[in-house]
Amino acid sequence: MRGEAVEGDVRKTLVTAQDIQAKVKEMGARISADYKGKNLLLVSVLKGAIVFLADLMREITIHVEVDFMAVSSYGRGTQTSGVVKIIKDLDAPLEGYDVLIVEDILDSGMTLSYLVNVLKQRNPNSIKIATLLDKPSRRMLEVRVDYCGFVVPAEFVVGYGLDYCEKYRNLPYIGVLKAEIYKK
Ligand code: IMP
Ligand code: MG
Repeated sequence: MRGEAVEGDVRKTLVTAQDIQAKVKEMGARISADYKGKNLLLVSVLKGAIVFLADLMREITIHVEVDFMAVSSYGRGTQTSGVVKIIKDLDAPLEGYDVLIVEDILDSGMTLSYLVNVLKQRNPNSIKIATLLDKPSRRMLEVRVDYCGFVVPAEFVVGYGLDYCEKYRNLPYIGVLKAEIYKK
């Protein structure tokens, strides 16, 4: 409801803000070590990954650049449409960069396998994936993840950037909404 507290719509917390913070710190440290001497470019997928990106980049201690892409595979609901489309492309070419795609969640795998294929054709030095969440139960296409935060069950999750109908991105933790919210 317009202007009301978000918290009231949450049924349960899956990953606390504290646990996210600790994990992101650990991922940032690993990435900093792994990309030493490389030319790291974080390619983030709008809009869901922005909160993760904002925290992750501040845990990276080597030089890093960021660029954004927007793709759509979902409509306004909770099921994938199976079609991936580029809504906003990167600002610059990828030659000479070691690309790390930063995603919020790997679900069916449609979005990430499409992105990896598209970005590979632009000849980066390397291309890897960092995802905060992995929902392996729903995989339709195999995707190799290099850095993964948490594995989550086959439920539609929100918070820390992830939305339901464009809302709930501002929750500082990962949660599941009350059943009646998804039915609306
Ligand atoms: P995939 O293409 O099915 O792997 O879906 C990836 C995209 O779908 C993510 O970038 C999210 O934006 C969205 N998505 C998948 N599962 C969820 C969820 O549980 N909550 C919110 N968004 C989701
Ligand atoms: Mg999304």
